[in-house]
Amino acid sequence: MKQTIAVILAAGEGKRMKSRKSKVVHKIFGKSLIEWIYTSVKEAGIDESIVVVGHRADQVIECMGDRVKYAEQKQQLGTGHAVMQAEEYFKDKDGYVLVLYGDTPLVTSKTLKDVIEFHENNGCSATVITAEVDDPTGYGRIIRDGNGNVIKIVEQKDASSEEAAIKEINSGMYCFTIEHFVKALRMLNNDNNQGEYYITDTIGILVEMGHKVGALKLSDPREILGINDRVQLFEASEIIKARIMERHMRSGVTIIDPASTYIDEGVEIGIDTVIYPGTILEGNTRIGEDCIIGPDSRLVNAVIGDGTEVNHSVILDSSVGNNTHVGPFAYVRPGSSIGDKVKIGDFVEIKKAEIGDKTKISHLTYVGDAQVGRNVNIGCGVVTVNYDGKKKHKTIIGDNAFVGCNVNLVAPVVVENDTYIAAGSTITDDVPQNSLAIARERQTIKDGWVIRKGMQRKE
Ligand code: UD1
Ligand code: CA
Repeated sequence: MKQTIAVILAAGEGKRMKSRKSKVVHKIFGKSLIEWIYTSVKEAGIDESIVVVGHRADQVIECMGDRVKYAEQKQQLGTGHAVMQAEEYFKDKDGYVLVLYGDTPLVTSKTLKDVIEFHENNGCSATVITAEVDDPTGYGRIIRDGNGNVIKIVEQKDASSEEAAIKEINSGMYCFTIEHFVKALRMLNNDNNQGEYYITDTIGILVEMGHKVGALKLSDPREILGINDRVQLFEASEIIKARIMERHMRSGVTIIDPASTYIDEGVEIGIDTVIYPGTILEGNTRIGEDCIIGPDSRLVNAVIGDGTEVNHSVILDSSVGNNTHVGPFAYVRPGSSIGDKVKIGDFVEIKKAEIGDKTKISHLTYVGDAQVGRNVNIGCGVVTVNYDGKKKHKTIIGDNAFVGCNVNLVAPVVVENDTYIAAGSTITDDVPQNSLAIARERQTIKDGWVIRKGMQRKE
């Protein structure tokens, strides 16, 4: 394969999205549209990509960073004009340019490899990827002559009713031979119904110049779905979702109800893990083997060990060890690290806390800005009082501590190893090793008070 450079167009306004954001930064399962296509480009073995930016360029550049080079299209005068802005990157090279649009995220690396191979093997100057669709509305139509050779592409807005009836459409993905392509670009004009420089016109121009133009017709038209509005965004999501689900199921994960499950592209899941309905796995979440995740759980950038259960819970930017139980109804907030064989029970909130192995925090508890040791028992209703109205403070609880129910730990405070804290205590001072701390008023009994005061409660 000769040297191939990809030019990805992403300068358009994307009016039909009705969005403040650039169309190509809209996401499908954790990856923006432009990242989806970029991934296929990379996987096809193409190392150099130029992204043409214009409308909301800042957002596109923020999204792609230094993975690609950029060309700027100051005014959006059409797809042909957009490609011209990137010309300096390829015009003096010998090889091919793959022109792609940032809004066609479903194309696979295989198709991109295939089009380059087809182009090379057939000695074409241009090869366009096409497909037959039931409803060609909005797409450019592929016009062939009596012998079946492609002679030009006509945009919907410029098509005669005869041309508009053609069901073979332009995917917007092409491979060009640089030498001829550069000449064709020079000959583009904007003499059409939209007053734009169309990249699609280079096809007709190359044919007229006597060069060979080929078409790679895909059997699966779903690959070339272009995203122009949010309905198409949803359609593309459904296709990508099915691909993601299939990949996990084929590699040994049980997904009970794919329809109600959402898994971002980057997520990894070990074998024999079962995903229950209503589960959303986002970002760089990694789940080990033999886990039970869900129902109704959301994990964002969570790292989960083996044999762990997460039930009706939310875990954000945190890690959980092996054979640990989380939930139902637990909320693990960013910066937490939970050990092995831990229990984080119902209505427990953990924030920026380290929880040692075999520790139990079973119910109705807030642990924030804390370091909790191994084999600790935290009773029901315990609160780390971490905020004094101005600053956050840390609570440290040593190994084997037993914190009774309804205890407030007013931070900063240290509870050493092997200690007990009596239920209902408000702990403001450090608790030394091997001691019992009691920090509450003693109980008084007023004998016969109910009768003396006439306070009997009768039904
Ligand atoms: C385009 C094709 C059409 C094809 C369809 C496939 C043209 C003229 N038409 O139509 O034949 O069937 O895609 O999805 O090429 N862009 C720029 N600068 C511009 C204009 C557009 O960078 O001045 C970028 C957009 O950001 C977008 C891409 O080019 O990523 C395609 O533009 P869009 O307006 O969506 O073209 P379509 O009307 O869909
Ligand atoms: Ca489009």
